[in-house]
Amino acid sequence: MRYDDIGTGIPLLLVHGFPLDHGMWRPQVEALRDECRCIVPDLHGLGTSPLAEDPATMEGFALALKTLLDKLEIDQAVVCGFSMGGYVALAFTELYPERVKGLILCSTRSVADDGHAKLARATTAENALARGMAELAPGMAADLLSNKTRKDRPELLAEVEGIIARQSPAGVAAASQGMALRPDRTDGLARIEAPVLILAGDADTLIAPSQSEAMAEQLSDGRLVVLSGGAHLVNMERPTAFNAELVRFLAELN
Ligand code: MLT
Repeated sequence: MRYDDIGTGIPLLLVHGFPLDHGMWRPQVEALRDECRCIVPDLHGLGTSPLAEDPATMEGFALALKTLLDKLEIDQAVVCGFSMGGYVALAFTELYPERVKGLILCSTRSVADDGHAKLARATTAENALARGMAELAPGMAADLLSNKTRKDRPELLAEVEGIIARQSPAGVAAASQGMALRPDRTDGLARIEAPVLILAGDADTLIAPSQSEAMAEQLSDGRLVVLSGGAHLVNMERPTAFNAELVRFLAELN
């Protein structure tokens, strides 16, 4: 699995979303490399990591991350998952709780897909394979950002489009089908012993902030922060506020 390993200090494993790769964490790596050790993988089939299983399950991604931590001789990391990366982070926490020093769940949810969402996953996979990612990238990128960001920051929209356009259709299809297979992990939230930070953008139209509120209610040691003016990709839209929350959380864990 391809990964970046940048900085020193407490290990922070940054797990990207769909259909993205490590590039979505640029604003965090730039700002946090002096605060912590950023481990930034490309999940299998995305970025430059080869496809490992099809469908690509969240549990398979979690196993690959555990294998990466083993290779890097990291006993415990702060695991930060964005959206699909949050599904992976929840699977990782369920399977390897002793490896989690803290958990950050960003723009994500614990529930499984309903029947309608599963059908949509199949359509996304078919479209990726039939049309290719360059054609799908503009529409998918627009959904990740707020109207205001799209209007005021065309360079950010172009950056996100570029990340999506470089994904392999087969990897995107495998991840889409894999997300449809994930179980509901809501019941497991109450059993998480590590401190949890939940981050959401108030203008997220893909995963409503109410999903974050519902998760926060289940946690014994959790905090929810809803950032204003951010949509789904809130870490790129509101990097200063997002990074400040990460730094505060890391300081509490040290
Ligand atoms: C993501 O950003 O990773 C996706 O929106 C997650 C999903 O499609 O459920």
